[in-house]
Amino acid sequence: MTGPNDWVPAGIDVNQPSAARVYDYFLGGAHNFAVDRALAEQIAAMTPNIGETMRSNRVFLRRAVRYLAAQGVRQFLDIGSGIPTAGNVHEIALEAAPGATVVYVDIDPVAVEHSRAILAGTQGTGVICADVRDVDRVLAESEKLGLIDFDEPVAVLLAGVLHFVPDADGPASVVAALRDAVTTGSYLLISHATADGQPPEVIEAQRLSGRTATEIVLRGGTEIATYFEGFDLVEPGLVFIPRWRPDPEDPVDEHPERVGAYAGVGRKN
Ligand SMILES: C[S@@+](CC[C@H](N)C(=O)[O-])C[C@H]1O[C@@H](n2cnc3c(N)ncnc32)[C@H](O)[C@@H]1O
Repeated sequence: MTGPNDWVPAGIDVNQPSAARVYDYFLGGAHNFAVDRALAEQIAAMTPNIGETMRSNRVFLRRAVRYLAAQGVRQFLDIGSGIPTAGNVHEIALEAAPGATVVYVDIDPVAVEHSRAILAGTQGTGVICADVRDVDRVLAESEKLGLIDFDEPVAVLLAGVLHFVPDADGPASVVAALRDAVTTGSYLLISHATADGQPPEVIEAQRLSGRTATEIVLRGGTEIATYFEGFDLVEPGLVFIPRWRPDPEDPVDEHPERVGAYAGVGRKN
């Protein structure tokens, strides 16, 4: 690795913000550049709840991984996994289910390099640099790592990533291809940004994401629910993130829609 910091992979354009690094900044991480922080602050000025949204998404992901491990899932394919921060999927999964395997997939070189560094020496884990839209490649590379047996149930985690897939690239067909690759009893997890219940500033802030290589597409709950075709949504269904099986010590406030994102988990039927 080369660059101004030892975690910066060669060839990174430090002048273009990236979705992964903006998210890292909102989560209090250290793997972001001035250009990411400036964009994050601009978005935050327009949508004061954005930090809460990101944290809420991360907390949901942890709750859901614990839930999935409790259902007996031992393989996790985390696509759009992001820059590792505290309480990563592999930490939660391995604590809940020792011997579980976790494969991280991300398109962002900083996320991939940092994941590799964090996971070095951690048994049962691997990292792939790939685009979720290239499902064949994601599946082939996962198999090559020898960490995912697609004849056994797999939890496919798509947390905060499908809203980076434009309509023209067919997010529903991406999910369908993943569904067809996994066996009955596998699970699909999705969290996705929405305009449902949001004030106009949120739509405006969403346009700012166009400065990264990956603009966010806000979708309605009805459309997001269709991505679960072939899966039975587990209780409580597709809901605003804080409503998804909240921990008792983490009560849901009166306006969970403020986070501007849905979450759901389904079991392949
Ligand atoms: C908001 S972060 C979510 C991180 C993590 N899944 C979570 O929920 O905490 C979204 C991640 O998706 C990645 N991403 C965006 N488009 C992608 C694509 N087409 N294929 C794979 N990853 C993508 C970004 O690089 C970023 O790391």
